[in-house]
Amino acid sequence: MLTNAPGANLPAGYKKKTIQIFRQKKERGEPIAMLTGYDYPTALALDRAGIDAILVGDSLGMVVLGYENTVPVTMEEMLHHCRAVARGARSAILVGDMPFMSYQASVEQAVRNAGRFLQEGGMHVVKLEGGRERLDAIRAIISAGIPVMGHLGLTPQSIHALGGYHPQGRTTAAARRILEDALLLEEAGCFSIVLESVPARLAELISKRIAIPTIGIGAGAGCDGQVLVVHDMLGLFDRFTPKFVKKYADLHGEMQHAFGEYIEDVAARRYPAQEHMVEMPDEEWQALLMEIASDKDK
Ligand code: KIV
Repeated sequence: MLTNAPGANLPAGYKKKTIQIFRQKKERGEPIAMLTGYDYPTALALDRAGIDAILVGDSLGMVVLGYENTVPVTMEEMLHHCRAVARGARSAILVGDMPFMSYQASVEQAVRNAGRFLQEGGMHVVKLEGGRERLDAIRAIISAGIPVMGHLGLTPQSIHALGGYHPQGRTTAAARRILEDALLLEEAGCFSIVLESVPARLAELISKRIAIPTIGIGAGAGCDGQVLVVHDMLGLFDRFTPKFVKKYADLHGEMQHAFGEYIEDVAARRYPAQEHMVEMPDEEWQALLMEIASDKDK
């Protein structure tokens, strides 16, 4: 059973966060901190560090599953990782990222799949990519009682339509379209919008024009909050690192170093040492030796 229902099994001192804090933080001018998370130990660490929200992003397709992009990610893969995160987090708001083709084919399919994120994945809200073309799906999901986070700018599920991972909204027309989409998503009822890889001054303008919080990734400091892919900021994914990422650790390097030391220890018989071994009482050992010896005499 999932134990992540709001308020369930919270240790003393832990306060369950709800999406209301998004709006409250924006009103108070306090930045919202979100990071992606895809597994139980990372969710525990994020939660204990006090993160506001954990996004189980479809970026897991690239940084955890090794796909070329996020297009192949399935609902089943997303739900598998959502459940692991839900088992680890007690306090953070959990955002399930709807994968490619889980909400585009029909409004009914979008609502059903959004529901699966809550019922089977233990998420609290869903995120989906797109602007004006997704309004019907967004409205239907929200009227089913599921809060929706929008996602504008660089929308990686449209990589083939966009022609690559390029910044978006750099011309007057493109910037205007993103601004209009942000207003439409707000009107449709989204509680927040991710702005990915757009000019910082456009993100700041949008953040001032709409009442719901914007969460930026590669969108500058004028957003109401920030999100990063956890494997990027920990230096765990070394295929490429986007320019906007600040690396807080080099875990890939540390892992490789630790694995190398282990291999050397095994080769040199330094591991396992005495303290890593299981012992048995001397008298049991002596009895065993005697039994074996007498077996031989028979
Ligand atoms: O999938 C993801 O991790 C995302 C973030 C980049 C916002 O959508």
